[in-house]
Amino acid sequence: MRRVLIADDEANMRWVLERALSKAGYDVETVENGQLALKRALAERPDLVLLDLKMPKMDGLSVLRALKEHYLDLMIVMMTAHGSTATAVEAIKAGAHDYLMKPFDIEELLITVSKAFEVESLREQVNYLKGESQSDGWQLVGNSDAMQAVKHLVERVSHTPATVLIQGESGTGKELVAHAIHTLSSRVNGPYIRVNCAALTENLLESELFGHEKGAFTGAHARKTGRFELADGGSLFLDEIGELSFNVQAKLLRVLQERTFERVGGEKTIKVDVRIIAATNRDLLKEAQEGRFREDLYYRLSVFPISIPPLRERREDIPSLAEHFLKNLRTYGQNKTFGPGVIDQLTRYDWPGNVRELENVVERLVIISQAAVIGTDGLPVFKTSSKEVEVSGAFVLPPEGVSLEELEKSFLQQAMEQTGGNQSQAAKRLGLSRHAFLYRLEKYGIDPHWGI
Ligand SMILES: Nc1ncnc2c1ncn2[C@@H]1O[C@H](COP(=O)(O)OP(=O)(O)OP(=O)(O)O)[C@@H](O)[C@H]1O
Ligand SMILES: [Mg+2]
Repeated sequence: MRRVLIADDEANMRWVLERALSKAGYDVETVENGQLALKRALAERPDLVLLDLKMPKMDGLSVLRALKEHYLDLMIVMMTAHGSTATAVEAIKAGAHDYLMKPFDIEELLITVSKAFEVESLREQVNYLKGESQSDGWQLVGNSDAMQAVKHLVERVSHTPATVLIQGESGTGKELVAHAIHTLSSRVNGPYIRVNCAALTENLLESELFGHEKGAFTGAHARKTGRFELADGGSLFLDEIGELSFNVQAKLLRVLQERTFERVGGEKTIKVDVRIIAATNRDLLKEAQEGRFREDLYYRLSVFPISIPPLRERREDIPSLAEHFLKNLRTYGQNKTFGPGVIDQLTRYDWPGNVRELENVVERLVIISQAAVIGTDGLPVFKTSSKEVEVSGAFVLPPEGVSLEELEKSFLQQAMEQTGGNQSQAAKRLGLSRHAFLYRLEKYGIDPHWGI
């Protein structure tokens, strides 16, 4: 049975609404002010909320905003007094599905409510179908202007054979975008092959990309097909392209120009039909200008550049991403929701590790939260000023039983370790004068000539 929560301060109104909707087969609960409405809705998610605009304690619009923060797609219908159209419009903008202008008759009420449920079930179907067609998980969540621009580029380029260069900080979704381009392209039924250029030594990478003939080098016991050949008719994703050695860069340039190559130790020229998608978290143009990356290769690669902005520059995406990751976890039987303030705190944090860090934090919250509604207690204490973020992503309280002194000692030791025992650097790293630093080393009995 569909659960409807009604909030109105007029007892008569509550009585009439409850009767009408119960008779129509809904499971109805009524409350007399905004605060109670929020409390009840957070305790148990209703399927629809009917909110009066003018209420004591917390007005309808504030309840609406708070609810939308926790349940992005909750159906909310506002009830407004005659003549307050402006507020009704504001409510719709804030995410209300519809509004009823008082006085309204029962029929109007029932039609509005059943229409809302119709829309909701359609939406569920669409989401289901989307999930089906995107079962390989490339759904790009986020509707900020920046993300919409990225999606637009992805759609446009996917229908062309152009080489794509995806740039963005670590964890911004480069791999996801690469996969999306392949999936939306006419090559979708062809192979999608990925190579992590940073993971292999130069020699191994070369034979990994182009393959090798038997006996090409010690250990080449059999002929090996390279990734370029494997990707024939599909797409090849060259991840971390900024890490390629100059030698491999030259070979790659030739493939991009001529679409041909030879296996390592082989004579035969092999021709392939491959769409290349490359990604890097470096500023490749700068690398090229400073001589660390071939300029000609850079221009070949960046025929169609897509750059994904860091999450802190598109904070609007944080709520929907957080809800998305939470929803993904539901498939593992974790049916939890965010409590008051959680999304707000997540939105204010700077996310140096971008979307990947957000995904990890949501996962951790779900695991450590005992209750079905996730509270702010489990959140790491986020520091949002960029200076502090540079030092470390998130500060978390140490495990119980660890004293501040022990922490201080451990920081001193780490600073010495990380700087190889360089006292002035270690002091600087901790924001201490050399004098203050040496004083503390002595206090904790740490060898000031550590590592020397
Ligand atoms: N827009 C998005 N919608 C949904 N999930 C996303 C989005 N962006 C990133 N993710 C998720 O965040 C995680 C990190 O993304 P991905 O691996 O694509 O980042 P990356 O830019 O390739 O990072 P790195 O540079 O560290 O390799 C993945 O689990 C990915 O599914
Ligand atoms: Mg990646």
